[in-house]
Amino acid sequence: MELHPHPTIPQKKPVLVCILDGWGENEYEDEHNAVHVAKTPTMDALKAKGQSFYRTVQAHGTAVGLPTDADMGNSEVGHNALGAGKVIAQGASLVDIALETKNMFSDAGWGYIKPAFANNTLHVIGLLSDGGVHSRTDQIFGLMRGALADGCKKLRLHVLTDGRDVPDGTSHEYMAKLVAELDSYTAQGCDAKVASGGGRMAVTMDRYEADWGMVERGWRAHVLGDAPHKFKCPKEALTELKKDGATDQYVAPFVIVGDDGEAVGTIQDDDAVVICNFRADRVVEISKAFEYADFDSFDRVRFPKTKFVGLMQYDGDLKLPANYLVPPPLIERTSGEWLAKNGLKTFACSETQKFGHVTFFWNGNRSGYFNENLETYVEIPSDNVPFNQAPLMKAREITAAGKEALLSGKYDVVRINYANPDMVGHTGDMAATVAACEECDACVKELLDLVEELGGMFLVTADHGNADDMVQRDKKGGALKDDSGALLALTSHTLAPVPVAIGGPALPTGVKFRDDLPKAGLANVTATYINLMGYEAPAEMEPSLIA
Ligand code: 3PG
Ligand code: CO
Repeated sequence: MELHPHPTIPQKKPVLVCILDGWGENEYEDEHNAVHVAKTPTMDALKAKGQSFYRTVQAHGTAVGLPTDADMGNSEVGHNALGAGKVIAQGASLVDIALETKNMFSDAGWGYIKPAFANNTLHVIGLLSDGGVHSRTDQIFGLMRGALADGCKKLRLHVLTDGRDVPDGTSHEYMAKLVAELDSYTAQGCDAKVASGGGRMAVTMDRYEADWGMVERGWRAHVLGDAPHKFKCPKEALTELKKDGATDQYVAPFVIVGDDGEAVGTIQDDDAVVICNFRADRVVEISKAFEYADFDSFDRVRFPKTKFVGLMQYDGDLKLPANYLVPPPLIERTSGEWLAKNGLKTFACSETQKFGHVTFFWNGNRSGYFNENLETYVEIPSDNVPFNQAPLMKAREITAAGKEALLSGKYDVVRINYANPDMVGHTGDMAATVAACEECDACVKELLDLVEELGGMFLVTADHGNADDMVQRDKKGGALKDDSGALLALTSHTLAPVPVAIGGPALPTGVKFRDDLPKAGLANVTATYINLMGYEAPAEMEPSLIA
């Protein structure tokens, strides 16, 4: 794995790679596009340099390994592509194939849980929506139908409501579909029920250890049958818990009880448990709680000896979980490995909410280092608040850490991710998202000014769209409103392409973007920053955007 010097670009430190998480360039340039509305002089100036130094690339659909071009981009596939320089069939696609070929039902993971079907309970835990970012209902139903065909007699669902990858308020629809599906199983002789649940930002789906309390609340509801709210009917649970205005993301934890008042689906020894999310970040913690005998992140009270599987294996370094239903995408020989094998030093930084994006996802879903002596990863702790309440998030602190790394002269490449356009965009709060974008733009300026001073080079890009459209639209692009005339917020990502800008004093005259890659995607960015570091990109990577 040897990198060769680039014929025209010098190996001149530092190179800055900056990712604006959730910053798309949307075709709708109107009052609902927070990127457009925000005052962004830095990004505007980069764009004004023209197509030799500023362009967009595809960040959604098949360009990033998702099943179809109707799939919006997301941070996992985006950072995988940016880090690896390859388009890899992603988890969503691999699960589709495993269901279509029925390989899921003959592989080892299925063999591990199948013995529980006859005399124990199969528990399915995961995000109930069609967002296609962490999970999809057709896959969840496909999995459950397979269990039924293999003799499953008792099925319990632990439902996490979405409203983040799909519009808020849709949880009712998904719950109704699920209940109808489960009723059809009951008619076939399988006792199938919803057992517990809660909103994805309230229980279970924490990531990067930002708030273990979320996972604990989920554990108590799913495993122990213990939650502040108890209902006999899951549809009623959602109606009641959303009455005070709670969004789908923040539905309080609940447990479904029978006529006797007892929880209908606690998790017991020898039960099978499946996490039905294909994406890793938000199910690593709950997986550890189920898998690790030795565990002190919270008091589990009771630790049932279950047959636990993930829909995928979520962490390639930790081999977590040990058993899984579909082998994960093999993302090998990523840029991080190439750089480390060539003795090049990397600094990566973001705040907690995106820390694993610029490390774990960037490195092909690996939580370790390629060479600890060459890689420095800095996590700035995120606040645990709804981010529209603090839209600047930790952008200043990240900038300070990035500047220190640039100034140190130690690193060949300094990689920074700003979380706020995405995290605030997910709240659906337009004003807060505009503030997030403005903060981000101002921080990028500070970094670029320092690169200028230090005589380096930079590449600024994004992983997918989000802040660039904050409203649900009709087919003609008109903003949708509810019955009271209020705008219907768009909390999810978009299909928009994202910017890529290059520059800096060390960029030799004549080096510019080529014009023969109109369909380029995020995977083409990898070879581009390797070029900026003064090296030819490995032939196995998607071609560089630079001529
Ligand atoms: C989340 O997990 O917060 C969303 O589902 C996706 O957001 P991300 O892909 O930007 O992390
Ligand atoms: Co997002």
